[in-house]
Amino acid sequence: MACAPALKAARASKICAYEIGRPLDMDVPVCINLERLVERSNGVFGKSGTGKSFLTRLLLSGTIKGQVAANLIFDMHNEYGHDSYSEDGTFVKGLRQLFGAEVLVYTLDMASSRSRGVAADEEIVIGLDQIEVEDITLLKEELNLNDTATESAYLLVDRFKDGWLKALLGMDTETLKEFAETVGGHAGALSALKRKLEQVARKGFVRETAPTVAIERMIDHLSHGRHVVLEFGRYGDSLSYMLVANIITRRIRRRWVEKTDEFTRTKNLADKPRQLMITIEEAHKFLNPSTAKQTIFGTIARELRKYSVTLLVVDQRPSSIDTEVMSQLGSRITALLNDDKDIDAVFTGVSGSSSLKSVLASLDSRQQALVLGHAVPMAVVIRTRPYDADFYRAVGRAEVSRQQAQSAIDELFPE
Ligand SMILES: Nc1ncnc2c1ncn2[C@@H]1O[C@H](COP(=O)(O)OP(=O)(O)OP(=O)(O)O)[C@@H](O)[C@H]1O
Ligand SMILES: [Mg+2]
Repeated sequence: MACAPALKAARASKICAYEIGRPLDMDVPVCINLERLVERSNGVFGKSGTGKSFLTRLLLSGTIKGQVAANLIFDMHNEYGHDSYSEDGTFVKGLRQLFGAEVLVYTLDMASSRSRGVAADEEIVIGLDQIEVEDITLLKEELNLNDTATESAYLLVDRFKDGWLKALLGMDTETLKEFAETVGGHAGALSALKRKLEQVARKGFVRETAPTVAIERMIDHLSHGRHVVLEFGRYGDSLSYMLVANIITRRIRRRWVEKTDEFTRTKNLADKPRQLMITIEEAHKFLNPSTAKQTIFGTIARELRKYSVTLLVVDQRPSSIDTEVMSQLGSRITALLNDDKDIDAVFTGVSGSSSLKSVLASLDSRQQALVLGHAVPMAVVIRTRPYDADFYRAVGRAEVSRQQAQSAIDELFPE
């Protein structure tokens, strides 16, 4: 492994912007160029328990401190906003504690935040009328939908527009049959779709109708450069996660595309949309070969770079991610992987990688990673920077007291 030359090159080009670790055999920092990092979508990979969430915290902290991008984190396991338990028996700080009011915590489940004794700034609810057929198609596996489900859903959209899901859920056997006859659909298929979508409607964060004001406000905060952790509370199942992440990200895309168009028209730098990085876990669920072509996350991974939005994908099964998406990733930070398919996937689109493949399988089971891509001068194996008291001092806004953070946040959310 060429650790020393990588460091020399990094120093020579003066891009030693943010330390993410040290080479295994030297006590000198390995740094990434944060501006280059956020320009492209990136991946954090590794088997379960190898340190992906810690690596993600390090990267997020760097981008927040360096103010190179606004961050939206879809926080499936409630681990990025507040204190989180480390397997070594201690608690580690969340981004809100490190960066105060720069980081806002949204939740789908206020009751869970309260029972954990942590503050969430605002709750998100989803109205049935915000759920589109694309969201349902993404949930094909989770809901065990068959191929006709999407067609049946479009029949309902043709007739009821945004109210399609509410209308379906309100139909009894008789009305369902009548509807099927009128539109030339299949009553059995519609009825199966209804049964499956009842699972969605039963989620505690779903309402018949819901104002979109909280989501819009969250997007406003992001567009002003604040960072948002969206906690899922008790709704950390993949169905809830994928549904909500998809609905919110679709709105974000709309906003960033509009902003970019405006900037192109006015050529005024003040109109340029802020760089935004969206962190998703279990990324293969959104980006596998069958969904990546149809979903908003696939679109972002493939082309939204030009609208200043990129992804940080965190996953333990990179081989399940569409190869076109994998080859678009700018940088990959990969902890231990054993499966040959996963190892091959990490190197999709990387030339001359055969010698690096064996490195991945020989890493320690924790806190070691191979860093590779356009944010570092060359591939290098690191011992990941410890996320500990020294790190908090070096990176966090030590001067922000809890009280100061709270009063700054109170101003953002007046009663
Ligand atoms: N940089 C680090 N600093 C301190 N501890 C670390 C670091 N990286 C990993 N660890 C230790 O390794 C444990 C596992 O790390 P982590 O939770 O990030 O794994 P993971 O890959 O996200 O696992 P999962 O797939 O289950 O989510 C942590 O609880 C912590 O004890
Ligand atoms: Mg994790």
